[in-house]
This record gives sequence, C-alpha cells and structure tokens, in this order.
Amino acid sequence: MQAISKSIKFIGAEDDSLDLFEGQYPIPGGISYNSYFIVDNKSAIIDTVDARRSEDWLSSLAKTIEETGHQPHYLIIQHVEPDHSGSVRDFAIKYPGVKLVMTAKALAMLANFFEEIDFTPRHIIVNDGDTLSLGHTTLKFITAPMVHWPEVMMTLAVEDKVLFSADAFGTFSMSNTMAGWDDEARRYYTNIVGRFGTSVQMAMKKLAGLRFDIIAPLHGPALRDNLAHYWTLYDKWSRYEPETKGVLVAYASVYGGTAEASRRLASILEEKGAEVMLMDLCRHDVSHAVSMAFKYSHIALCSITYDGDLFPAMHDFLHHLERKNLANRTVGLIQNGTWAPTAARIMNETISHMKNMTVVEPTVTIRSRLHSADLNSLNILAESLMN
Ligand SMILES: Cc1cc2nc3c(=O)[nH]c(=O)nc-3n(C[C@H](O)[C@H](O)[C@H](O)COP(=O)(O)O)c2cc1C
Ligand SMILES: [Fe+2]
Ligand SMILES: [Fe+2]
Repeated sequence: MQAISKSIKFIGAEDDSLDLFEGQYPIPGGISYNSYFIVDNKSAIIDTVDARRSEDWLSSLAKTIEETGHQPHYLIIQHVEPDHSGSVRDFAIKYPGVKLVMTAKALAMLANFFEEIDFTPRHIIVNDGDTLSLGHTTLKFITAPMVHWPEVMMTLAVEDKVLFSADAFGTFSMSNTMAGWDDEARRYYTNIVGRFGTSVQMAMKKLAGLRFDIIAPLHGPALRDNLAHYWTLYDKWSRYEPETKGVLVAYASVYGGTAEASRRLASILEEKGAEVMLMDLCRHDVSHAVSMAFKYSHIALCSITYDGDLFPAMHDFLHHLERKNLANRTVGLIQNGTWAPTAARIMNETISHMKNMTVVEPTVTIRSRLHSADLNSLNILAESLMN
C-alpha cells in the first residue's frame, strides 16, 4: 500500500502463505496485517502485526524511522487479537521508551497474552472520545466494543480526516487489492463480525458524527473513493438486511439426486427472471455460503436426510447462519430421503430460532430422485421464492 497521506505511512505486512485465517477461512489471495506510522513531533504507530510477520514489520518500521528521522513515541493498540497484537512483545523490547495507548479492556487482555511483560509503567489508558495530540495531528479515540472483540477502539486522525477503523471495513486481501472487495469484505464481515450487528450499528452511529475521507482498516486496502458505497454495504450487513433480491440455492447431496433437484429449482427460478446463486455446500467452504446467505433475500435449503438428521455440510451451514444471527430472510426447503425423510423438519427447527425468517410453502419432499410428479411442487416453490 502507498502512504495514506504525507504524514501517514503504511508499515503493514503482507501474508501470502497462511493456509487458514483465524484457523478456518481459506485466503487464496493472502491477507495483510495493516499498521501505520504517523510522522509528527511525537510520532505514533497504529497497531502491530501478526507474529508471523514480526520481522518484516520491525524492518519496515526501522526503515521508516530512518527515512523520516522520527522516533515513535506512542503505539496505539486498537485490537488485541493476535493478528494485530502479535508483535507487541518484540516491539516493547526493542523500543522501551514508547508509550502503549489502549482501552482498559485491552490492557487486561494484553496482560494475559504477554504475561512476561510488565506494561504498567508504560501504558496510557484511553476512553471513548479522548484525544491525544501528536503535535500537528490530533488523534481521537472511538471505542467500538464487539466490532469483533470487547476491547476494540478506532482512531480518527482529525486533521488528515483518516479513520483507522480496526477490523471494520477490512477484507481478506493484500493491502493493494481492490478487485472483488464487495465479495471478500462481505465474507470477512459476515463470518468474523456478523454475529455482532447491533454493536456495529452502535459504532456506525458514533462514526456518522465524524468527518473522514479515508478509511484505513487493519486488513486489505485503505478506502479512499466512494465511501458511501462501503458504508451502505456495512449498514445493510449489520442490520441483517439483504443486499440483493435473489435466491441462494444451497444443497447437500451424496449421489446427486438432491443436486439435480436443486439445479432444476435454480433453472426454473432463472427462467422466471430471478437472480440465482447455486452452491454445493460440500464443495464450497462454508464461509462463502454464509456470505451469500447475507447477500441474498431468499434462500432455498436442499438436503438429504442422513442418519435421521441433516447431511453434515447442511447442518454446519445452518449452524453458522444461526450463530451469525442471520435474520429477515425468506426460505424454501427441499428434503430428500429414501425411507423416512426428516431433513425439512430439522431445517425448520433451526430456522425457528432465527429472527424474522419466513419459510414458504410448499416443502418439497423427493424420494431418492426427482420424479416428474415433483415438478409441479418445485414450480410452486420457485414461485413462492420470487416474492
Ligand atoms: C449414510 C447415509 C444415511 C442415510 N440416512 C437416511 C435416513 O436416516 N433417512 C432416510 O430417509 N434416508 C437416509 N439416507 C438416504 C438418503 O437420504 C437418500 O438416499 C437420498 O436420496 C440421497 O440423495 P442424494 O442423491 O442427493 O445423495 C441415508 C443415506 C446415507 C448414505
Ligand atoms: Fe479481529
Ligand atoms: Fe483482524
């Protein structure tokens, strides 16, 4: 990433060799751990990086200190999750004079992560709305509890109008990749922060009263143009409102019978003019399916009955949707079973725990394979999923 402004340098690290982010999310395009150096009379660093990239980060930092002739005075710790605080120990040892600025909750957490370091003499605790003058730049801190973790705060560089937004507005990508932002930022948001929509809404209300032209998150590119576009997406995702009218047809099948019924439903829907996303839950990582469930207004769930239960991929998908608090969707069900189909009853049961979900009629039950007699109910289901 280029510098954010004349006085705000990017010193983050790119990671293109991590198989699974947070132990579960595939990131084929890599991810960045962003960190920024604000050059001023008392220079400040915004966050460190994952321990995987400590060396890279410390050398970018040393280079920036040399080039600018400014030593760091403060390290602002916005978020204690190890993908950002992972280099705090190495930093604290190398730069013993630097003050560590964070919320009280962050300090309590940091002490648990780094038992061997005594942070007491060198920390500054900040509260919501507090400011810190670096000389020319004023930093204003905005607490954003549960915009991923309880200790999170964001930081506004007031004069430069740059919002350091912590994990919010971040994405699964390197810092210089804008392509595909909507899809990957949605996958990041819905899977990682999705459960905490109410907290995101509270943070957005606070941010709405501030002036900023650039959003600098902790993963992926800084956002400079058309901020309204990103803001609107975040607003919809955090209110659990669909982004697009259309149907996600998600299926779990062993021998292809349920897959065929799902494909047939998708093509009927397309013939009727609907936007459709067909997804094989066994062959797509569940994080993509969760993202699509947040994107679309309607979902068709199609599962075989398996040991009197759902097929594991469907069980997992529904469990994720429930944990992420997905709400306000219209759902259709297709179940398959050879002797005692129970998948629809179980899907219905999980959906009943979610807010404002409407299950439309008819539930389509197929016996092993789609039969010509099933086509009529498939058609009616498609019709119900068009509203
Ligand atoms: C391991 C296993 C367990 C199953 N358990 C049940 C069951 O409890 N009840 C039932 O009606 N069918 C059960 N079935 C049958 C499938 O639901 C049925 O064959 C279905 O048609 C498979 O659809 P597919 O072609 O989409 O894989 C089971 C199948 C397998 C392989
Ligand atoms: Fe995080
Ligand atoms: Fe993060």
